[in-house]
Amino acid sequence: MSKCENEATVAHLTLIKIDILTLFPEIALAPLSESIIKRAQVAGIVEIQAHKLRDWATDKHHKTDDTLCGGGPGMLLKPEPLFAAIEALRGPDTLVVLMTPQGKVFKQAIARELSQQSHLLFVCGHYEGVDHRVIEQLVDLELSIGDYVLTNGAIAAAVVSDAIIRLLPGALGDDQSSVEESFSQQNLLEAPAYTKPAEFRGLAVPDVLLSGNHKNIAAWQKEQAVARTRKNRPDLLE
Ligand code: ADE
Repeated sequence: MSKCENEATVAHLTLIKIDILTLFPEIALAPLSESIIKRAQVAGIVEIQAHKLRDWATDKHHKTDDTLCGGGPGMLLKPEPLFAAIEALRGPDTLVVLMTPQGKVFKQAIARELSQQSHLLFVCGHYEGVDHRVIEQLVDLELSIGDYVLTNGAIAAAVVSDAIIRLLPGALGDDQSSVEESFSQQNLLEAPAYTKPAEFRGLAVPDVLLSGNHKNIAAWQKEQAVARTRKNRPDLLE
C-alpha cells in the first residue's frame, strides 16, 4: 500500500453519533452528504443517520399529525409515533434535541458544548410543532437556529449538525481554522480578507496586508474587526 492510500484509510474513533428523526430524511441528509461533512463521515469521525417518523406510526394510514386541541390553524405532530421513535432511538447517553422556533437560539458556544456529546438525537418539528407532552417527557433541549420560521426542522437539524461536526478534531484539514474564526475567541466578527491578485479592476488590496509586517497586520485586523462588528453586529459589542 502506498503512503497516500495508507493515510486515506486511517481509521478514526467515532467521536459522535447523530440521529435525525424527521418526516423528510432526504432534506436533513442532503446538506451533510458533500464536502467536509461527507469526508468526516467517510473517515469515521461522525456517524449520521436519518429516520422517517412515519415508520413509527402504527395506524393504517401512518398518520403523524392531527388538529390542535382547543382549536386553531394548522396541525401538530402526534405524541404516539414520537414517543415510540425517541424511545427506540435513544440510549443512556443520548441528548434529545428538538428543533423548534420556540427554542433557545443556537450560537457557536452551544455548537462547542454539543460537540462534546457522544450521541445527539435531533427531533424535527413540522407544521405547528409537536404535542407538548413530547417536550415535557422526552426532550432535553429545545433549539432554534434563529428568529424566523422554516417549513420544517430538518433544515435546522442539518445546520446545527454541520456547525458541530466541523468542530470535531480531524474534521477540518487544518484544526486551527475553527479556532481563529469569528465567535471563537472574542465577541468580534472577522476582519475583511483578501487574496490574489493584489489589484483587480483598479481595486487594491490594502498595503498593510502586503507589507510583511505582522505586528501592523494584526493591529489593522483588530481595528477592522471592531469596525465591522460595530456596523453589522453592534449587539456583540454591548
Ligand atoms: N423549525 C422551523 N423554524 C425553525 C427554526 N427557526 N429553528 C429550528 N427549527 C425550526
